[in-house]
Amino acid sequence: MGNNLLISFLLVVFEIAAPAAEGSQHFDSQQTLPSSCPAPDPTLNHRPAIGIVCHPGDGASGRLSNATNISYIAASYVKFAEMAGARVIPLIYTAPPEILNQKLNLVNGIIFTGGWAKDGLYFDVIKGIFQKALAKNDAGEHFPILAICLGYELLTMIITKDNNILEEFSAASQASTVQFVENVNIEGTVFGRYMFVYSPMLLKKMSIDCLVMQNHHFGISPERFLANKDLSGFFRVLTTSTDENNKVYVSTIQAKRYPIAGFQWHPEKNVFEWGSSRIPHSEDAVQVTTHVANYFISEARKSSNKPVAREVLDNLIYNYSPIYGGKAGKGFDEVYLFTPHSALSYL
Ligand SMILES: *[C@@H]1O[C@H](CO)[C@@H](O)[C@H](O)[C@H]1NC(C)=O
Ligand SMILES: *[C@@H]1O[C@H](CO)[C@@H](O)[C@H](O)[C@H]1NC(C)=O
Repeated sequence: MGNNLLISFLLVVFEIAAPAAEGSQHFDSQQTLPSSCPAPDPTLNHRPAIGIVCHPGDGASGRLSNATNISYIAASYVKFAEMAGARVIPLIYTAPPEILNQKLNLVNGIIFTGGWAKDGLYFDVIKGIFQKALAKNDAGEHFPILAICLGYELLTMIITKDNNILEEFSAASQASTVQFVENVNIEGTVFGRYMFVYSPMLLKKMSIDCLVMQNHHFGISPERFLANKDLSGFFRVLTTSTDENNKVYVSTIQAKRYPIAGFQWHPEKNVFEWGSSRIPHSEDAVQVTTHVANYFISEARKSSNKPVAREVLDNLIYNYSPIYGGKAGKGFDEVYLFTPHSALSYL
């Protein structure tokens, strides 16, 4: 039965294909292409590049490198951008400011990753890039930011100018649900895509099943978030989640006037990290990652920045190789390592 169906299918394909094959062997691409393949939306940039800021350390508690000023990007963030149709340029925070600025001009959006560093040069670099991103948007360029875990926490510190804005929570290596804020308008946010483009079912599942991975000791309660004029003026709170002690914290936010989204959770882990048995890997969990990635890169495609192609190639993460650190059974599976020198070698 199955074979018969397959054969019928092949016959149909063959009959459709046959007349073309009998025709002229001369293919004039200029004549045939425009009529058969409509051009993609010309208002969008279909070759976006994403800058990911590296974080201090080797990402593996010294198992991979103890070098001074070593920094890393977990490959999960890179693959997360790639899976939705973008290429990645590493932004090595220890590089000289003028180099960082040049690289910022090569990308169409930024990811601030998770981690632990909340002060010093790293904090200053994140703050500087955030301010440049705001300026780009204010100047009319659509320049999105996805801030994950530490990245989200740093944005709250930068926006409030208060390094003590965060509260302590117990959500280390914990999968959780997300609860949507009552009557929240999710149109134009990461969840708007689920609702209006894909399946609203997934939103429902996210509020019942533990489909998002948390890994943090800090956060902000909805009460503190909403009471703070800087935060509630800048961001809309979309979801909350609950820690191991039933304390509620803000888990997803969207800037009101900028394409900036903040996640206390880790959208990249569900597909690409295996070091903790708590990370959800179900088909629904993979869909959550897919939708967040597609949301972010669809925002990056709205960026009109089209740098010189050769400069993009020279700075892509493909100039570096990831290292497998996950065999230890903990931490990140693959990381890219950088030294200040590796930044300069690509000039
Ligand atoms: C880094 O230092 C620690 C502690 O001294 C040591 O156990 C580890 O092997 C070192 N890592 C490397 C890659 O040499
Ligand atoms: C590490 O980075 C700091 C700050 O950029 C710099 O002052 C120091 O010289 C660097 N150390 C090494 C060993 O590269």
